[in-house]
Amino acid sequence: MPHTATPVEPHVMTTYGRVPIALSHGRGSRVWDVNGKSYLDALGGIAVNTLGHAHPKLVPALQDQIAKMIHISNYYYNPATEELARMLVERSGMSNVFFCSTGLEANEAALKLARKFGHDKGIAKPEIVVYEKAFHGRSIATLSATGNPKVQAGFGPLVEGFIRVPVNDIEAIRKATAGNPNVVAVFFEAIQGEGGVNPMTPDYMQQVRALCDANDWLLMIDEVQCGMGRTGKWFAHQWAGITPDVMPLAKGLGSGVPIGAVVAGPKAAHIFAPGNHGTTFGGNPLAVRAGLETIRIMEEDGLLANAAQVGLHLQTALVTQLMHVPGVKEVRGKGLMIGVELDRPCGVLVQRCADAGLLLSVTADSVVRMVPPLILTTAEADEIAATLVPLIKAFLAEQA
Ligand SMILES: Cc1ncc(COP(=O)(O)O)c(C=O)c1O
Repeated sequence: MPHTATPVEPHVMTTYGRVPIALSHGRGSRVWDVNGKSYLDALGGIAVNTLGHAHPKLVPALQDQIAKMIHISNYYYNPATEELARMLVERSGMSNVFFCSTGLEANEAALKLARKFGHDKGIAKPEIVVYEKAFHGRSIATLSATGNPKVQAGFGPLVEGFIRVPVNDIEAIRKATAGNPNVVAVFFEAIQGEGGVNPMTPDYMQQVRALCDANDWLLMIDEVQCGMGRTGKWFAHQWAGITPDVMPLAKGLGSGVPIGAVVAGPKAAHIFAPGNHGTTFGGNPLAVRAGLETIRIMEEDGLLANAAQVGLHLQTALVTQLMHVPGVKEVRGKGLMIGVELDRPCGVLVQRCADAGLLLSVTADSVVRMVPPLILTTAEADEIAATLVPLIKAFLAEQA
């Protein structure tokens, strides 16, 4: 990588509008670019770097694993795979796990589970309830489930069999599914991430759980972004005291080593039979070790509590310093998943924050999103607010 301020990649497909920064290394919640400039990382690799960068307990564990075995294929047992499955089952109250490598793969597996659940009941054309503003990935099936026309544009025909409803509106889902014998599942993110940090209310999640029970539908909750401790509980739906039947995970599970998982409860755990589903890398020893160590270190270091406390501290600071500012619509989220919604598109803030030494993203055009490592300290949270608040105020003032 050339040591330039604006790296170019003539051989890489331009699927991302990159921020012109080339990063070289990190430590804790901080990263450095190739020119030596440091940044506080409030994006955390988009909710991936649970343990931050170069964690002193994770690095030797991964080095140890690489020296032993990276990959073996799913033709053979890897005892650590069962151990990680057990850890996820214990923390979710569910029963079985399928491992894969990414969020979209986990969601793809969930969609296949729902369809086969329907077929096994004699439903030839199963339909799945999905949500406005949802994001579930970029495969053909998961982009069809996604509720963002920009993600779908140019990739039709979309996969059929989805019924779309607005978030937090129980009457809307009742109406959209009334008398439809083909419905097999309801699929939502407990907190929509890409859609703009939009939490499902506990009340709504409880009502949908009851609706699924009453109709023998699967409740499938995409915890790819909001799960793995980010909100202060292992999984964001646990704030509602419910348990889903299917729960896709990825992102934070491996602290940066690619790993995804679909956790299933008793109703969905035995839908797949040998030959129904698979993936070469799923549950590979390196990925599984990353998952095991992530959970172990999170518990050793009390990172769920840290995410809750530091997240609340940051959100409170942002509310106090921004909510009276004209142009700020809402500060929302849970734990270390926080969005600041402005009344106008604000993508330019990404570069301005980076210039000021802060990495974050803008999603859904007008929502500044922070999903930092769960090791973030209170002092670092204060630093985020101290950098971000004046930049938001200046941006809104110049556009007034
Ligand atoms: C809620 C949710 N589901 C699924 C995905 C897709 O995950 P991946 O990019 O690993 O395929 C994402 C990615 O942002 C996500 O936020």
